[in-house]
Amino acid sequence: MKTNFDEVVERRHTNCMNTDGFRSYIFHADKTMKFPWADDEFVRMWVADMEFATAPCVVEAIKQRAEQRIFGYTKVFDAEYYRAFVAWCDRLYDWHCKEEDLVTSNGIIPALYELVSYLTKPDEKVLINTPAYAYFKHAGDFNGRETVCSDLKNDKGYYTIDFDDFARKAADPKVTLFFLCNPHNPSGRVWSREELLRVFKICHDNHVFIVSDEIHCDLLRCGVRHTPMAKVIAAVDPAFDRIVTCMAPSKTFNLAGLMISNIVIPNAELRKIWDERHYSFDNPLSIAAAQAAYTDGAEWHQELREYLDGNFKFTKEYLISHLPKAVFRIPEATYLAWVDVAAYVKPDTQLPLFFANKAGVLLEGGNMFVQNSDTDIRLNLAMPRKMLEVGLDRICRVLNGEKLR
Ligand SMILES: Cc1ncc(COP(=O)(O)O)c(C=O)c1O
Repeated sequence: MKTNFDEVVERRHTNCMNTDGFRSYIFHADKTMKFPWADDEFVRMWVADMEFATAPCVVEAIKQRAEQRIFGYTKVFDAEYYRAFVAWCDRLYDWHCKEEDLVTSNGIIPALYELVSYLTKPDEKVLINTPAYAYFKHAGDFNGRETVCSDLKNDKGYYTIDFDDFARKAADPKVTLFFLCNPHNPSGRVWSREELLRVFKICHDNHVFIVSDEIHCDLLRCGVRHTPMAKVIAAVDPAFDRIVTCMAPSKTFNLAGLMISNIVIPNAELRKIWDERHYSFDNPLSIAAAQAAYTDGAEWHQELREYLDGNFKFTKEYLISHLPKAVFRIPEATYLAWVDVAAYVKPDTQLPLFFANKAGVLLEGGNMFVQNSDTDIRLNLAMPRKMLEVGLDRICRVLNGEKLR
């Protein structure tokens, strides 16, 4: 491997959310909140960014763009950006979008917030699968729209869609928008073509617009392949355009702070609304970074996937020997481990607070994933293996009753 993913990169004093923002994000608290651990003693397994330096080609592209020295108002005009994105999607998913359908956004979250307001009326509802990435609900809440939750079925850590429940909820005439998470955060499922087809049919028959958030689609276990929802639909109903696809280099290349994402909108009416109402500037350094990642980042990306596979194998073995009653399966996608610790905690335990206090580990869990997640914790494994081992060691020791502080 060319890349040293074991390198520990210092992140403090960089206005880093991961190191400095956990009190407000996880605990809704200010900096007076105290723990038995100093801030730099925590093992941080929470927010979904990585402890790895990005690909060298990305750093080089940012430096080159910086050398140009003017950072005036910028927006993707050059077709090179589109060509880089489309070549990436072609190679990885055998899928490509039309150039005129691609717009950029300063992150997928802002796009989801906007799309709710463009696609639904005030009395309409947004359907999601739970457990869910909470911003799907926040996007509805922010716009005053009701969220309808369809719980996924959970068979020993393997999550599937409850199609009867999903169809029943989609049939509510007030449900007009579905946020699909493909692959799914937090379960890590990569939905199969058959599952996606069933979802599409239900949404189609009930006139529910689909927004497919595919931000995690590049981070698959080696050998697993992602299927974009838009590709499934194009194969059976090429004229159907009531779908938006959201992808980004942010998870893949650890560029969340650069805030650039790709939103593919084939529906001409919606794109018109987007063009009229979206504040559509991009950061010049972000364009350079994203384009370089898509053009030259393939080798780094493959190495990353191999390293992550190793971290998942390590975690699986660690949990089997130290926490045998935990329910965990290596997910098909994401760098996030979803672990049910019901056998080890009292009901109603505030899991993030429990682990921050007792184990010195920052993680997300419980109702941070909306519902159907009371006894689950989500561990971000995108870190050097030695760091991961410390985190797992502390988690397992406290769950086995040891007092660390
Ligand atoms: C499903 C999903 N969508 C969106 C995001 C964040 O998107 P962005 O940083 O582009 O706003 C995340 C981050 O964890 C996510 O898991």
